[in-house]
Amino acid sequence: MTNLTQTVREIALEQPHSIRVFERFGIDYCCGGRKPLAEACVEKQIAVDEVLSALEAAAGSIAPLPIDWSQATLGALIDHIVATHHVYVKSELPRLAVLAQKVVNRHGDTQAHLLAIQSLLVLLGDELIHHLGKEEHVLFPYIAKLEGALTAGGAHPEACFGDISHPIAMMTSEHDAAGAMIAEIRRLSDDYTTPVGACPTYHAFYDGLKEFENDLHQHIHLENNILFPKAIAMEAAGVGVTA
Ligand SMILES: [Fe+2]
Ligand SMILES: [Fe+2]
Repeated sequence: MTNLTQTVREIALEQPHSIRVFERFGIDYCCGGRKPLAEACVEKQIAVDEVLSALEAAAGSIAPLPIDWSQATLGALIDHIVATHHVYVKSELPRLAVLAQKVVNRHGDTQAHLLAIQSLLVLLGDELIHHLGKEEHVLFPYIAKLEGALTAGGAHPEACFGDISHPIAMMTSEHDAAGAMIAEIRRLSDDYTTPVGACPTYHAFYDGLKEFENDLHQHIHLENNILFPKAIAMEAAGVGVTA
């Protein structure tokens, strides 16, 4: 049962089916999800009852439930994040860049917001690629080793960054920055609304941006709300420290 005082990300965590509902209403459940549902609805000018009904309908839906990653091992969750979301970001960014260039070439002289979206997308892409590299090469291997050590009752693996909360704070702050950039792209594009008579490339670009935003929110949700808190708890759970 949904409680209006719960934060949006608490609901996303407890009810994985709610993510599709939040996406539909454009309610941010990851970086911007630290507010009660009632407040998020007021900000988006959506009737709370409408969202509650949609949540109830989704809970009773016969559609297959999304995997509850809060029950998986951290190793399995990391494999999923990399294979699904990191691979997607790396393959989608170049495709979106081509589409952005095409719509800017065609309409940029009369629609200045397209140039602003293109610039933000380049910035977001550069930051995300750097961010994924840090996760894949430093943080995720450490978390997988930490889980292995805890399972085997062994010692903490060596870490070059001291306490795990340090790199996690950095990753979380980078998520906030990425979330703010995609929110600005959504605003500039008027919620991905194409003008009347827009060409198929324009539609493909905005559809692609919308899908990219949805994927980014799911990706950040898995890291911020499941992987990182569990990794911090695991480090504090009493695995012996390497001598
Ligand atoms: Fe990631
Ligand atoms: Fe991340």
